[in-house]
Amino acid sequence: MPDTLTVTDNRTGRTYEVPIEHGAIPATALRQIKTGDDDFGLMSYDPAFMNTAACKSRVTYIDGDRGVLLYRGYPIEELAERSTFLEVAYLLIHSELPDAAQQREWEYDIRIHTMVHENVKRFMSGFHHDAHPMAMLLSTVGALATFYPQATNIKDAEQRRISIWRLVAKMPTLAAMCYRHSMGFPYVLPDNDLTYVGNFLSMMFKMVEPRFHPAPEIEHALDVLFILHADHEQNCSANAMRAVGSSQPDPYSTTAAAIAALYGPLHGGANEAVLRMLERIGSKDRIPPFIEGVKQGRERLMGFGHRVYKNYDPRAKVIKRMADQVFSVTGTTPLLDIALELEKIALEDEYFVARKLYPNVDFYSGLIYQALKIPTDMFPVLFAIPRTAGWLSQWEEMLLDQEQKIARPRQLYLGAPRRGYVPVERRG
Ligand code: ACO
Repeated sequence: MPDTLTVTDNRTGRTYEVPIEHGAIPATALRQIKTGDDDFGLMSYDPAFMNTAACKSRVTYIDGDRGVLLYRGYPIEELAERSTFLEVAYLLIHSELPDAAQQREWEYDIRIHTMVHENVKRFMSGFHHDAHPMAMLLSTVGALATFYPQATNIKDAEQRRISIWRLVAKMPTLAAMCYRHSMGFPYVLPDNDLTYVGNFLSMMFKMVEPRFHPAPEIEHALDVLFILHADHEQNCSANAMRAVGSSQPDPYSTTAAAIAALYGPLHGGANEAVLRMLERIGSKDRIPPFIEGVKQGRERLMGFGHRVYKNYDPRAKVIKRMADQVFSVTGTTPLLDIALELEKIALEDEYFVARKLYPNVDFYSGLIYQALKIPTDMFPVLFAIPRTAGWLSQWEEMLLDQEQKIARPRQLYLGAPRRGYVPVERRG
């Protein structure tokens, strides 16, 4: 049987043969389907990319129906159990797990790039005390482009490599600076004897003690959370990274665009929105009216539902285990009881069951961050740190893909037909 699709255009009675490759038809093959010579040709209409593959990728695989998530072929559960975030970042970017020498080199390359230029402090000091940390992060990541003008040379593999080191290395430093600025605390220099996550915790929480020693359970839990958030194939921010990167600006500007996409409450802002929702519910007895509001469309149950996982989110299972580990050190929070009850009710309720709405990774990540005493508006920033590794692997894959061009979707124009200008005195 040929791998083709036969299409009959009932407007003309003509039949066309369209190739099928990897379970998809090339959308441009539809252009041959015309009603006449002045017809542009058939397009597919797909707002929000519900059924459109915009790239071929070898980074991350998701089977939403079976709850499978693989990075470069490795199951997320195994990586969360046995790997470290920095190793996973290497895997995403270089396609393979590092051997011992590559791992040493990679860790060294990241470690020596953790500091930021002193001038970054000056940008920071210009932000209001109550500026959202995510807005500060996206501005300062964009500003890195001003320090590294060579980074615009994105066709040079060496420049790309250095930019990747810098971005992976500096993201925790900038994130911690955003936090310290909000709190009015002095900035803490990186401690390169600590692990990637240990150093981040030190830059966040070190006060007057000569050396910060992160609790091993917390360091491990945060490392696992970073692994779970490192990539998620063609989501809104990865798509922003690819779309903006396709016009070939430097990777700092491109990453700033991805951070902007992640900022929204339907994406990386979801864990922040979960906590605000739990705070608003306030007590277990107010859950039933809240659920009623969700069903009537007045509310949305944040941390539930996913565009691709229609069974369960494999990351949510791992994160629930991590939550127990963190709470064993920090003690539980009153919001946890509300979250557990809300989850129980929603998982049994016909509205959520029928729509295949399950907790996603963000339902619990916010509770963990809260237990670590991280302010709510820092949550999306904590998401951006590990996701940078995924964005960069998607970005480089896009740049090296010969089939890619500047991203430029089509539209179906439904506006006014051509008409003449009317002077203001003759309108209305
Ligand atoms: N609460 C209540 N109802 C919901 C929810 C929710 N969280 N999510 C989806 N639905 C309903 C929709 O209203 C719709 O109902 P209908 O068929 O009666 O109209 C149905 O379920 C299908 O939902 P869609 O909006 O078509 O699903 P979509 O795939 O477009 O949305 C999304 C996915 C944006 C994640 C959505 O589920 C949502 O808003 N969830 C809450 C926000 C959230 O947790 N985002 C984090 C995603 S994970 C991440 O970014 C890491």
